[in-house]
Amino acid sequence: MKKIQLLSAVNASIAGNIGADLLAAAILEKPDCLLGLATGSTPVPLYHALIAKHQAGQLDFNQVRSVNLDEYVGLKGDHPQSYRYFMNEVLFSKINIRQENTKVPDGIAADQNACCEAYESQIKAWGGIDYQLLGIGQNGHIGFNEPAAVFSRRTQVVALTASTREANKRFFDRLEDVPTHAITMGIGTIMTARKILLVCTGEQKAEILEKSLFGEIDPQVPASVLQLHRRLTVVADEAALSTIRLKHPEAF
Ligand code: GLP
Repeated sequence: MKKIQLLSAVNASIAGNIGADLLAAAILEKPDCLLGLATGSTPVPLYHALIAKHQAGQLDFNQVRSVNLDEYVGLKGDHPQSYRYFMNEVLFSKINIRQENTKVPDGIAADQNACCEAYESQIKAWGGIDYQLLGIGQNGHIGFNEPAAVFSRRTQVVALTASTREANKRFFDRLEDVPTHAITMGIGTIMTARKILLVCTGEQKAEILEKSLFGEIDPQVPASVLQLHRRLTVVADEAALSTIRLKHPEAF
């Protein structure tokens, strides 16, 4: 098996710094690069580190384009739990990216299938994703691609599993408020990215990270497909690496 590029960080904040350095290098190399971006709590330190670089005058987002992985169905972009709102608040409003150069799937599109097709066309029109940032769900989901019988192909509407809704309920008042469906880039779409950066932090992710990177490649563990990507970098903190250190000390 090929060795995975696995970078260890002492904590989540340092993992964010390492991830931000990698994305910053991609932006410096190609100022109009297309970044695939992610939500969730994991990328927040990385976004803070990118903002710090921008504020220090080291990073210009003027020509950068971005496509987000996913969005809840039924939430408008001004809903505080929508991923569009999250991206605007946490990152876009704090850097000089142009709003028209940022795309997040439209959670309230009248024709959702057309919206998914348009998303794929947009990615192609922008020349494909240069660097895709990913987090990982506790069941191994990437984007909102949940465990399934086959790996999903392109952007589509999916039903969220009970465990994902339960995990994401912390952001809502009640479980009933967590949307039941989402629009997500497909796994096939994610795999077309030229480079992928998976960031994983926290002890609660240690087992699924080990399973994803060292277990069978199995659509029941969606992130396991990443083993097949030629330019995957994983940045994880020591807590998330604990199972890998135990079972695969040779990985370091
Ligand atoms: C959500 C997002 C994923 C994200 C996952 C993990 O379900 N759709 O893209 O990776 O949560 O989130 P966190 O980083 O908060 O653990």
